[in-house]
Amino acid sequence: MKGWENNSDFMVKKEIVSAANLKKEIEEAKVELTSQNKKLKLSVKTEAKKKVNKKKAVTKKKVDKKKAVTKKKVDKKKALAKKKADKKKAVAKKKAEAKKKVDKKKAAAKEKVDKKKAEAKKKAEAKKKEEEAKKKEEEAKKKEEEAKITQEEIWEEQLTEEEIIGFQIDKTDMDKLVNRVTEMIAGYETKGILQNILWRKLKLSSRDGSRLALKLERLGNITREKILENGRWTYLLLIKKIPISTKSIENAPCLVCPVEGKCSTDGEISPKSCVYIEDWVLTELKTKKVMKLIDAKKDHYRKLAHEQGYRSRASYKLKELNKSYRIIGAGHFVLDLGCAPGGWMQVATKIVGNKGKVMGIDSSYVEEIPGTFILRASINDNNIIEEIFDFFVKKVNTVICDLSPQVTGNWSVDHASQISLNYSAVKIMEQVLEKKGNSLFKVFDGEFSNEFYHYMKKKFLRVKLTKPKASRKPSSELYCICLGYLG
Ligand SMILES: C[S@@+](CC[C@H](N)C(=O)[O-])C[C@H]1O[C@@H](n2cnc3c(N)ncnc32)[C@H](O)[C@@H]1O
Repeated sequence: MKGWENNSDFMVKKEIVSAANLKKEIEEAKVELTSQNKKLKLSVKTEAKKKVNKKKAVTKKKVDKKKAVTKKKVDKKKALAKKKADKKKAVAKKKAEAKKKVDKKKAAAKEKVDKKKAEAKKKAEAKKKEEEAKKKEEEAKKKEEEAKITQEEIWEEQLTEEEIIGFQIDKTDMDKLVNRVTEMIAGYETKGILQNILWRKLKLSSRDGSRLALKLERLGNITREKILENGRWTYLLLIKKIPISTKSIENAPCLVCPVEGKCSTDGEISPKSCVYIEDWVLTELKTKKVMKLIDAKKDHYRKLAHEQGYRSRASYKLKELNKSYRIIGAGHFVLDLGCAPGGWMQVATKIVGNKGKVMGIDSSYVEEIPGTFILRASINDNNIIEEIFDFFVKKVNTVICDLSPQVTGNWSVDHASQISLNYSAVKIMEQVLEKKGNSLFKVFDGEFSNEFYHYMKKKFLRVKLTKPKASRKPSSELYCICLGYLG
């Protein structure tokens, strides 16, 4: 090797070698560096990856935690909802069970009702059949009765006119009896009286009474109307002619006539041409019931009442007044004071209908009116209020009052007693009429009518005195309409 050190080639060669070595070293260093670089890069990457993973793990942990919390919440909610739903289900179940029970009960009740209904229907049908049979039986009885001849008819067949007119009761002044009975019948005016009631009042046997009625009819004093009363034929006695009593000729001019001895029907001095008799007769007739009867017979409303089955012409007064003032309405509870023979009750019953109630009070007998209650009593009787409440149970909507006293013919007396009856009726009204209720009072017009009108004005919202068309023109009766009781 020392030979090579002086040689330039050698030197170059040496330099080349060292350069090659250097190159080799550089390359090796390069490799080493690359490797180290690679390693470093790898370690940085690994580190970064580690960091990322760590971050990821932390995030995941967080997310998982959140998820767990959320899941817990959701589960809690779900559990709550489930609990609620279960509770709801339980309630619904309970309800359904309760409903089932109620339905069962309802079904049982319905079954009971249906059973009852069926029984009631059966009963009603049986009752209907029974009623129909009864009706048929009654009709047959009625036909049979109608075919029956009364004792009076037998007498009429058997007795001569003389025997009928000459009828005499032992030890009795027949003229006096005829006058008395005729006057009594006249007292019942156009209503008439049932003969058996009259005979009871007179304490006459029904045989004597019936013969007497025949006699009165033949004398032209009365008429007899054959009627079926409680399944038996009897007669309603109606006045035809007022008897001539000594009282009725009290003021006759003949009693004090100086030429009475010379008076004869065909003579120069005769009752036919006597002006005193004419004056007296005219004055008497004006005040006598005969006049009233003549009027009554011609009367349009009386005829109408007869045709339409109303018991009195008074029915038309109430009909007319109610049409204008609506005193009575459907469903009303109505009290009728002084109701005989029942004309107003017939009208009231029709107006109130099925839901209403009608009660009548009169001291006279009133034949039954279906669907009503009739009390035979004086309005001054003590227990009258109790009787009224017994029937109605509560206060009434309307009080109607057509009270009339037994008229004497003296107007001031009759007027005073009629107004006095009205004040008694008002006392009843005050206890039984409901607030805002209505009333109707007949008033015999006279000096006290105005006082009565003002008395009523204090008690009602609206009060009016009026005279219906159906009231006879010459009659001095007015009607006091009272609406809206102030209580
Ligand atoms: C004109 S009538 C009534 C008519 C009746 N509104 C009708 O439509 O048929 C008068 C009635 O008052 C009756 N009366 C008079 N005073 C009476 C009293 N104190 N108590 C009960 N009724 C009485 C009479 O008996 C008579 O029947």
